[in-house]
Amino acid sequence: MCGALHSAKGKGVKTSSPDRLPIQHPEYRYPASRNPYFQKLRELPGRVAISDQQTEAYPGEWRRQFGDAKPPEGRKLHVEIGCNGGHVTLEWAARDPESAYIGLDWKMKQIHRGAEKALQRKLGNLIFLRAHAERLPYIFGEGEIDALYLYFPDPWPKKSQRKNRFINPGNLDRLARIVRPGGTFHIKTDHPGYFEWMEASLKEAQPLWDVLERTADLHKDHPDPTRLTIPEVTLFERIFVRERLPIHSLKLQRRN
Ligand SMILES: C[S@@+](CC[C@H](N)C(=O)[O-])C[C@H]1O[C@@H](n2cnc3c(N)ncnc32)[C@H](O)[C@@H]1O
Repeated sequence: MCGALHSAKGKGVKTSSPDRLPIQHPEYRYPASRNPYFQKLRELPGRVAISDQQTEAYPGEWRRQFGDAKPPEGRKLHVEIGCNGGHVTLEWAARDPESAYIGLDWKMKQIHRGAEKALQRKLGNLIFLRAHAERLPYIFGEGEIDALYLYFPDPWPKKSQRKNRFINPGNLDRLARIVRPGGTFHIKTDHPGYFEWMEASLKEAQPLWDVLERTADLHKDHPDPTRLTIPEVTLFERIFVRERLPIHSLKLQRRN
């Protein structure tokens, strides 16, 4: 990621292009892209998929953006970070039409695929966001989310890569601001090292989260976890379960 300020030619004046700022920076702006899905996402009808800068236009107003015209007040808002092609979010939304669902991922093609499926299935209670997870504090308003999910975030296993891990004390604090008091944050990983890191991050973060449930082997009591299907398991989880990797799970609750 490119966050450097650069000198304006010959003048020694420091300027910065907004799309070159660090992604977490308040002034960061998404750049245009040559990826064909950059345009395709913008051609989808209605608000089934929202991309890049536009994802930051509705903080505190998300419940009003869904196409199914259900009264927004009192609806639960669920947000899945790193939803990939939306396999889990699509099923949740179909099974729970009274709630509103948002799936977020930075991969344009996957978000487009999820959005097309939501259109085919006429799911008016689901919106896909093509955005960086690091922008979540700018996308949502304070306490707006009822339930947040992060399933199998990239583990960045090498020591030199650990700074890229999404769960860290700073992000735990930032995410706590957009989840309502009493709301939940469910995290799953197959990576024991990242799980340890998450628990250490929780200790270091502000005391804004309580641990509701914690296990280092989520499916240990299931007679045959390989038979679990989406959304009980995610796409990646199915592979890990087949490889007999124990699934680590943390369910947090936003303190009052
Ligand atoms: C290992 S996959 C897991 C996908 C899905 N949750 C599952 O369990 O099947 C991680 C996902 O997170 C997305 N991702 C990684 N870093 C991201 C970021 N900074 N912002 C948004 N999405 C991100 C990837 O594109 C990918 O779809």
